[in-house]
Amino acid sequence: MPSHVPVLPGAVRSLLAPAPFAGWIVDGTVGAGGHAASLLAAAGPEARLLALDRDETALAIARDALAPFTGRVSFVHAPFSRMAEAARDAGVSSVRAILLDLGVSSMQLDRAERGFSFLRDGPCDMRMDATGGGRTAYDLLRDESEETLAAIFRDWGEERYAARAARAVKTALAEGRLPDSTTALADLLDKALGGRKGRLHPATRCFQALRLAVNRELDELEKVLPQALDLLAPGGRLGVISFHSLEDHIVKNFFRLHEGETVSLPQGGTRWAGAEPRGERATKKPVVPDEAECAANPRARSAKLRVFEKAREGAA
Ligand SMILES: C[S@@+](CC[C@H](N)C(=O)[O-])C[C@H]1O[C@@H](n2cnc3c(N)ncnc32)[C@H](O)[C@@H]1O
Repeated sequence: MPSHVPVLPGAVRSLLAPAPFAGWIVDGTVGAGGHAASLLAAAGPEARLLALDRDETALAIARDALAPFTGRVSFVHAPFSRMAEAARDAGVSSVRAILLDLGVSSMQLDRAERGFSFLRDGPCDMRMDATGGGRTAYDLLRDESEETLAAIFRDWGEERYAARAARAVKTALAEGRLPDSTTALADLLDKALGGRKGRLHPATRCFQALRLAVNRELDELEKVLPQALDLLAPGGRLGVISFHSLEDHIVKNFFRLHEGETVSLPQGGTRWAGAEPRGERATKKPVVPDEAECAANPRARSAKLRVFEKAREGAA
């Protein structure tokens, strides 16, 4: 049975479902259903869940995990950039909590055939949704220009030697030896980037960049945040767990943009101030896992949870 250990489970539960409520939870990344089950349990019998995932295999696992809550859960196979539409179709209203636990799951990483990991030999695929067509990592390496590949490696992998990596890919393609397997691609990048010097495998950053590009992950995040905020009921909370700085910046900036503040007016009374105020951060600093959690679950090491609370009625 594939497994996935949810990160920051206690913080997610206490920040998104601090007390039982009647209303909806939307989990945009239901994965193996660990967070969803814990939120449903904490929110009590009057709470319902809309569970989204763009990976059909994850949804099948979540269905099993959430079987105890049958009748209270609607599953939708969709990218979370279509959250508003999914909520409308499912008749969702009064949303009290929304969770986005970004990135890939351990189940996806562990399955060689999904092509996410260079630790397991598989095809250079990396699509989270393998059903809807879309370009694989191999397609992208083959079709994009050297300049575009370098930009992908640099901007989304923060790879210092992005140009070198892109050149190696395009040279291999021209010579008819562009690898179509993850381990062979990792070897090619390893050689191009001059071998291992630190803790990370040299291909790590380029693999991250390819995954972000194949799944348009940052674009998905930019699209879902405003939809999630619109969907929340007054006083509802949006929690986002990110795993690298590119994602975290998007979340942090979005929350800052919409943070409101009550300021006193010289003539008396108060005013709700801010750039586009719609609520406030429920966590001023991101919540991060403690050492024990990182030791037990290495995936947790780079996790950051930020939570935003939509203004209660009458605040804005
Ligand atoms: C880190 S796992 C979530 C684990 C989950 N919180 C749990 O407790 O099991 C991330 C999941 O989000 C899904 N995912 C990532 N990006 C997505 C997107 N844009 N739309 C929908 N699902 C997405 C992945 O397919 C994966 O199953």
